[in-house]
Amino acid sequence: MSLKWSGLSPDLLLTVDRSSARPLRAQLEQRLRDAIRTGRLRVGERLPSSRELARTLGLSRGLVQECYAQLQAEGYLVTRIGSATRVAAGAAAPPAPAAPPAAAPRLLADFRWGVPDLGAFPIGDWLWATREAARAVPAAALDYGDPRGSPALREVMAGYLRRVRAAAAEPDRIVICSGYAQGLRLALRTLAHAGVRTVAYEDPGSPATISAAAASEGMSAIPVPVDEHGIDVGALAATDARAVVVTPAHQWPTGVVLAPERRLALIDWAGRRDAIVIEDDYDAEFRYDREPVGALQGLAADRVISLGTVSKSLAPALRIGWMLCPPALCEQIAAHKRLDDRGSPTLEQLALARLIESGRFDRHLRRMRATYAGRRAALLGALAEHAPGVTVTGLAAGFHAVAHLGGAAGEQDVIAAARARSVGLYGMSACRSSGAATPVRLILGFGNIGERSIAEGVAAVGDLLGGR
Ligand SMILES: Cc1ncc(COP(=O)(O)O)c(C=O)c1O
Repeated sequence: MSLKWSGLSPDLLLTVDRSSARPLRAQLEQRLRDAIRTGRLRVGERLPSSRELARTLGLSRGLVQECYAQLQAEGYLVTRIGSATRVAAGAAAPPAPAAPPAAAPRLLADFRWGVPDLGAFPIGDWLWATREAARAVPAAALDYGDPRGSPALREVMAGYLRRVRAAAAEPDRIVICSGYAQGLRLALRTLAHAGVRTVAYEDPGSPATISAAAASEGMSAIPVPVDEHGIDVGALAATDARAVVVTPAHQWPTGVVLAPERRLALIDWAGRRDAIVIEDDYDAEFRYDREPVGALQGLAADRVISLGTVSKSLAPALRIGWMLCPPALCEQIAAHKRLDDRGSPTLEQLALARLIESGRFDRHLRRMRATYAGRRAALLGALAEHAPGVTVTGLAAGFHAVAHLGGAAGEQDVIAAARARSVGLYGMSACRSSGAATPVRLILGFGNIGERSIAEGVAAVGDLLGGR
């Protein structure tokens, strides 16, 4: 895309060599021809005024005007009276036509998990918050700041986490990061520096993400089974792990909640093993049947690093998350954050703080809770009608459900057959450390798909899932 300049003359990096025997005008013409031929300057792009270019290069304006006139005569440039000089159409060798991108097949329904309703992002509120934040920001806050993040957001976030997640949250123990992804890496890096060699994770869970993050910090990652009460703490204790990543409020992906006795057992294990629990509190805002359970961190603030994100509550593209850190680790985590990126972008942090403290964030969550609860009901209703052989498990929470298929068909066969009918389905095998495709389970995401598409999609594939 060529740059459109609104008034000021654009800058252009060109040099001339005064020690060369070649005349300056010939040099400048050659530089401009090369810039156009190689695509540095594209068709339609505006050149600096002759006065501006002459000033920048220390040449006479007349020389630059002659040069422009020569290139105009050669068909490289066009000048219209009263308008800027631009690169002429057809001046550059036309680029080889790019292969048209393979058109993504339009799906009747896509049950992709992990994505919230992107169209429901509260853009008006975000614009308001961004304006408010930018208008009020003191100049000093635009400097490099505390790597833990903006004090204003940490203050607001601490209040929010105490209020909504019953967390033991103080602003100076919060590190704002770019989502769970960075939070996990910073946590593992800090633990690796403290001598932790092995991190355990829930199975099924996120084997690929956690194994890759662990490997990049020189750690090994081992799976520990999950049953209907959450992670098997006995099996965890049988490993040599001194850290574990868990999703206690809404286990990813099975959707079970970590049972109260397991919570206590996990904290007890962490104390006896001198271990750290990394709590992924990814979608705790969305619980429909009753109040969400509080964060594990609230029970053992010195043993738990709790990670939160706006990727589910607002949008993944914001890349904002937070870490609630045990006192003993907070400084090291902040030091790693400083090394990583010197802190997350301040204006976005201030906007999020305004969004939360104005009540607009809570209002958005209330709206989305109703939306997702409606979609979940639509999904269950459609499955009961078109695929009565399917059992659905997991809490009335988040925006995914797990479907247990009763038929004999394998996971990949069901997915492929559904795709042929323009329905996107996704299997549990990607969440199993073994990659096993049995027992056959589908993870049905309903975050970014409306009730009508849910009904149509399930109707289209009901017989594949377990229709009678
Ligand atoms: C289990 C789990 N936790 C957290 C996240 C959010 O990650 P991030 O905050 O980096 O977007 C995801 C994203 O899909 C996830 O699958």
